Amino acid sequence: MAEKLWGGRFSKEIDRSVLKYTLTTDIDSRLIRYDIWGSMAHLAMLNNGEIVSKEAAGKIFSALLKLYESNERGTLTLDPELEDVHLNIESLVIREIGSEYGGRLHTARSRNDQVVTDTRMYLRVELLDIQKNLYSFVNTLLKLSDECTHKIAIGYTHLQPAQPISLAFWYSCYASMFLRDLARLESAFNVTNLNVLGACALAGTSFPIDREITSKLLGFDRELMHSLDATSSRDFVLQTASTFAILMSNFSRLAEEIVIWNSHEFGLLAIDDTFATGSSIMPQKKNPVVAELVKGRVGRIYGVLMQLLTMVKGVTLGYNCDLQEDKPMLWDAIDIIKNTTSILHQHIENSDYKSDRAEELCWKNFSTVTELANYLVREKNLPFREAHHLTGLLTQKLSTEAMDMRNTAFVREFLAQQSIALSEKEIHDCVSPIKVMERQCSAGSTGPDRVKEMVKKLQQELESFQSRLEHKSQVLQDAENATLKIAKDMQLKTITGG
Ligand code: ARG
Repeated sequence: MAEKLWGGRFSKEIDRSVLKYTLTTDIDSRLIRYDIWGSMAHLAMLNNGEIVSKEAAGKIFSALLKLYESNERGTLTLDPELEDVHLNIESLVIREIGSEYGGRLHTARSRNDQVVTDTRMYLRVELLDIQKNLYSFVNTLLKLSDECTHKIAIGYTHLQPAQPISLAFWYSCYASMFLRDLARLESAFNVTNLNVLGACALAGTSFPIDREITSKLLGFDRELMHSLDATSSRDFVLQTASTFAILMSNFSRLAEEIVIWNSHEFGLLAIDDTFATGSSIMPQKKNPVVAELVKGRVGRIYGVLMQLLTMVKGVTLGYNCDLQEDKPMLWDAIDIIKNTTSILHQHIENSDYKSDRAEELCWKNFSTVTELANYLVREKNLPFREAHHLTGLLTQKLSTEAMDMRNTAFVREFLAQQSIALSEKEIHDCVSPIKVMERQCSAGSTGPDRVKEMVKKLQQELESFQSRLEHKSQVLQDAENATLKIAKDMQLKTITGG
């Protein structure tokens, strides 16, 4: 049985069921790298302030480097007996070089500031990764948009045919939407990337620590100064989870459209065989299971947000073990969001929107009648309300006779009865789906020039994200390398038996 680092005031061993109920070693495996890196930065700072001697620091660095390398090789596993990652790493250091040296690492820090430091360090990497994945998805949507500004798609309101739009307008709508998700992810990153190390248990410390040094070595933007706030708050996790919840709800709208457009009755979207599964009994089935699962998993992401909001509610200031429950849920959410972003991206790339069918349906579903009303306003000086009424009546008559807007002779005759003279060619041009779509010209409309303008602007906005993303990744990498360099420069050969 491993000896407890906090064992001094205890005369009995912890109950096995209590240990099992409270330990976090399984969840903490994602934090090992950050716990070691954080320990190195803390130690460099302690040594710089002459709180720990060069000799002790050298020995501790050598032990930490060994652990770092072992973790890189995938051979470092956490011992559940030691509760969590922090006590594991500290114990391994002490086991390697003895307590006289290793026992100095935990000077002027606490697991309460360590756990938030590690979580922030891990989360920011995942937030960057998710942003990169979403960036590439938006990039694909904008590329697809560029190729189909003249292709027809159907625009719905109330899921009733409304007006023809371009396929580019549909793709770029999701790009426009997801760019706001990118901005929210960036903002979640910014509140996450703050240094809480040095807050110690809650009240700070009487040692002359320098928190700017650890901020720099850990790649944080700056310190979250207030020690009680730093150790108590989990709102960076809440902000991340709510950002995920909004993103997932946006994903689920796309997923729902995939399912509906793909149905036999709509027949607007053909999904690739590689993105569907069949039925064990009905041979004809090709089910859009990926999109269905995206929708199905939304509840898990909303659930994480609800769990986290409930977890922090009514928790007094200072660390409370309630807060330990943030990580399992957050890890789960990170995995779902990452997988969903990349699979939906591939799903869209492997689906084929049937523009020809959309155009055909737009003739049949009366979705260009608004444009006939507009034409009567423009060319025949009718008040819009009257034009609306008249074309509504026309729609009713055509549909009861099982006709559509292609029956131009009928339309011409109907209008002539109202003393409105339009030729059949004029009517046809006025309500042709492609022409209707191309005629839209207001800012932000579906007209090809307007869509091209928007796609260009969205692309520029996207590029600005990319340079910031690359910069942030670089800062983190440089900081880790700088910390490792200090550790390597200062390490001393361990005396075996320590
Ligand atoms: N394992 C804890 C967590 O995940 C960190 C240790 C907190 N400190 C304590 N005194 N139990 O939140």
